[in-house]
Amino acid sequence: MSALLVEATRIAREFDYPAEQVRRGVAEYIRQADEGLAKENTTLSQIPTFVTAVPNGTEKGLYLAVDLGGTNFRVCSVQLHGDTTFSLTQSKIMIPRELMASGTSKDLFTFLARQIESFLRIHHNDHFEAHQRRRANNAAVEDLFDLGFTFSFPVRQFGINSGTLIRWTKGFNIPDAVGHDVCALLQSAIDDLNLPVRVAALVNDTVGTLMARSYTSPGKTGTLLGGIFGTGTNGAYLEKIEKITKLDSMKDVHYDKSTGEMIINAEWGSFDNQLSVLPDTIYDRQLDEESNNPGIQMFEKRVSGMFLGEILRRALLALHNDPQIGLFKPSETSKWGLDTSLLSLVEEDTAKHYPAVKAALKDHLKIENPSDEECEAVKILVHAIGKRAARLSAVPIAAVLIHTGKLQTDELVDVGVDGSLVEFYPNFEGYIRDALREVTEVGPAGEKKIRIGISKDGSGVGAALIALVASKDETLQNPQQKEGK
Ligand code: BGC
Repeated sequence: MSALLVEATRIAREFDYPAEQVRRGVAEYIRQADEGLAKENTTLSQIPTFVTAVPNGTEKGLYLAVDLGGTNFRVCSVQLHGDTTFSLTQSKIMIPRELMASGTSKDLFTFLARQIESFLRIHHNDHFEAHQRRRANNAAVEDLFDLGFTFSFPVRQFGINSGTLIRWTKGFNIPDAVGHDVCALLQSAIDDLNLPVRVAALVNDTVGTLMARSYTSPGKTGTLLGGIFGTGTNGAYLEKIEKITKLDSMKDVHYDKSTGEMIINAEWGSFDNQLSVLPDTIYDRQLDEESNNPGIQMFEKRVSGMFLGEILRRALLALHNDPQIGLFKPSETSKWGLDTSLLSLVEEDTAKHYPAVKAALKDHLKIENPSDEECEAVKILVHAIGKRAARLSAVPIAAVLIHTGKLQTDELVDVGVDGSLVEFYPNFEGYIRDALREVTEVGPAGEKKIRIGISKDGSGVGAALIALVASKDETLQNPQQKEGK
C-alpha cells in the first residue's frame, strides 16, 4: 500500500467508535438526560415544550407555518385533511448571510414578516385583502391565521407559544436576540405589517418531526421520538410528566396535564459538552476551537452536516501537510463550506476511477484531476467520519428507548427522522441499526422492534399541528382558567 493510503487508513482509525464506547455513551446519556429533567442549566437541556399530546391523523384545518433553522426560511400553509393526509403550499427563500450573523434581531424578524406577507399575497390574497379592509374600517379583527413557528434553536419555553432564546447554533449569531421571547419578536414584526396572523405555537423542528410522523405514520402506533440528522442534530420525545420534576419549580407555566405526557426537546446537540464520553480527535478539537461557539454543541460537532465536511477538510489538510505524502491542498475557501452532499457523493461512488468523487472534489474543493489513489484516500476518510456520525447517532436513540422503557412495553416503537444525513448518506440508518444491536438493553430483538421512517415536512406539518392544538386549547387563550387543571 502507498504511504498515502497507509496514512489515510491510520487517520481513519482515529474515528473508530467501537461497541464498548457506544454502550458507555448510552449509559452517560441516560444519566445526563435524568439530570436535565430535574434541573435547569444542564448540558442536556431537556426542554419541556408544553405540547402534551401527539396527533392521530384525524386533525383538520388550514394553518400557516414558518420555519427558521437552516440556510432557508420557509413559509407554508398546510391543509390537514383529517385522514392522515395533508396538502402543503410553500415558498422558500435563502436567508441573506448578513442577517444570520451580523444584523439585529429586528432586521431578521422584519425580513421574516415580509416573507410571510408576500406568501399571503400570492397564495391567500382574498383572506389577506378582506383583513386589510376590515382594519381600514376599524371593524373587529377576526379570522386570523394561526401560525406555527418552527424555530430550530435552543429555546427555554414558558408555554406553547412563548420562549426565550438560550443560544444560537449552526452559524447563526445575532446577540441581541438571546434571552428574548422569539414568538413575541415575530408577532411584533407581523403586527408592524398588519398581517392577519397570530403566532399560536413555538416549535422546535424535532418536535415538528415527531408530530408530523405521528400524524402520517402507518397504523395506530403513536410516535415516540423525532430526530433530526441534518445541518444540526437534535431529538424530541414523549416523556411522562411526573418524570419532568423541574416543572414543579417553574412559575407561571400553563399546560394541560390530562394526558400525563409532554414532549421534551432534548437539545442533544449539546450532549456531553464536558467530553466525558464523546470521542475526541485532533480534528474535532481544532474544529471546536475555531468555531463561533467553542465548548458547546459538542455532540452536534461530531454528528451533523454542518461539521462533518469541516472535519474531513482538516483530515485532508493533515495529509497534505505531511511532506512524505503530498496529497492535494484542500482550498481554504471551502472552510466551513463543505456540506453533506460531498460526503454522500464520495461514499456512494464505487465505480472504477471514481468519476463522482472526482466531480465532487472539483465542485466542492476546486481540485482538478486528482489521482485514483487520492480519491481512494478521500473515500477512506469520508467513510470513517460518516460511519462514526451514524454510530454516535444511535446513542441518544438507544438511550431514549431504554429510558422510556418502550422496548419492554411495546411491540413496535416508531421513530420519525429527517435531515440530509439520514435521507441521503448511504446506509446511515444501517450503521445506526448496527450500533443499536450492540447496546445490551436493545440487542437484536429490540432493534427489530424499532421502525424508523423519514418524516418529511415536519417543520411545516408538525408546526401546523401544534398551532392547531394551541388554537383549540381555550385555556391558552385565557390562561386564568388553567389554574385548576
Ligand atoms: C439546534 C436544535 C435543532 C437542531 C436541528 C441544533 O443546532 O440547537 O434546536 O433542533 O439543530 O435543526
